Amino acid sequence: MCANVVVVGSLNMDLVTRASRLPRAGETLIGQTFSTVPGGKGANQAVASARLGAEVAMVGCVGSDAYGVQLRDALLVEGIDCQAVSRVDGSSGVALIVVDDSSQNAIVIVAGSNGELTPASLQAADAVLQAADVIICQLEVPMATVGYALKRGRELGKTVILNPAPASGPLPAQWYASIDYLIPNESEATALSGVTVDSLESAKLAATQLIKAGAGKVIITLGSQGALFADGQAFEHLLAPRVKAVDTTAAGDTFVGGFAAALANGKSEAEAIRFGQVAAALSVTRAGAQPSIPTLHDVQGFVPS
Ligand code: RIB
Repeated sequence: MCANVVVVGSLNMDLVTRASRLPRAGETLIGQTFSTVPGGKGANQAVASARLGAEVAMVGCVGSDAYGVQLRDALLVEGIDCQAVSRVDGSSGVALIVVDDSSQNAIVIVAGSNGELTPASLQAADAVLQAADVIICQLEVPMATVGYALKRGRELGKTVILNPAPASGPLPAQWYASIDYLIPNESEATALSGVTVDSLESAKLAATQLIKAGAGKVIITLGSQGALFADGQAFEHLLAPRVKAVDTTAAGDTFVGGFAAALANGKSEAEAIRFGQVAAALSVTRAGAQPSIPTLHDVQGFVPS
């Protein structure tokens, strides 16, 4: 097999409603639409990398339900190698998503079969990891599995990317030495660093902390405010293209997948960040997770407004 990007992570079926606003505690809201859409941070990043020019393999776990078949098929149609996507008895991962009229979302995930992806699953998929140039992980599979993937990626000399999503607190300290690129959003950077990230200056402080902790380079995504790149020597604030947002679901995943695909194809860091930003900007103009992810052709045809 030949994959230059390998994604170790989750596959979820997204159960998506649109409502005028997000519900308050204890409230029943009448929604406008409902759809069932393939998602999961890992699978979304795999689809993004594949549509944006990389050869991709996925390492993950689906359930024995109908969703499991649909989630795997959604990757196969993108040409993603799924030999390391195993199937276990029980339910696949799901995400309950509400998107409001201002394109913001609230998401609750239930791990299901994603919780069955173990370090032993990765040992069985070692040939897939060995074939990678870039390995991407997120936090929707067990922490022990992520820790193993990072360490193994480092041992194999691969470029290792961690998108620490979702994050609720600091990462295990020993992980940092294995991470080439740490890519949190504002809330994840806050959870990891303890610095409340609500401005460019606070993002710089958080990035400095994360580099001190041992991460190679840090890219904090700042939504419509762009991204902050830090390498321990300098900072660079890269503005995001302006677009009219419809649904921000999977925008971060599109950035990570696009960045990884560009790096794997020999682009510089700056070029890879800008490429990921254009891809993410296009994704927010469309609804859903995987259906919103643009192709290489879309990105190449993007004209900034
Ligand atoms: O990042 C977006 C993804 O988060 C959704 O597709 C959902 O499955 C959750 O994992």
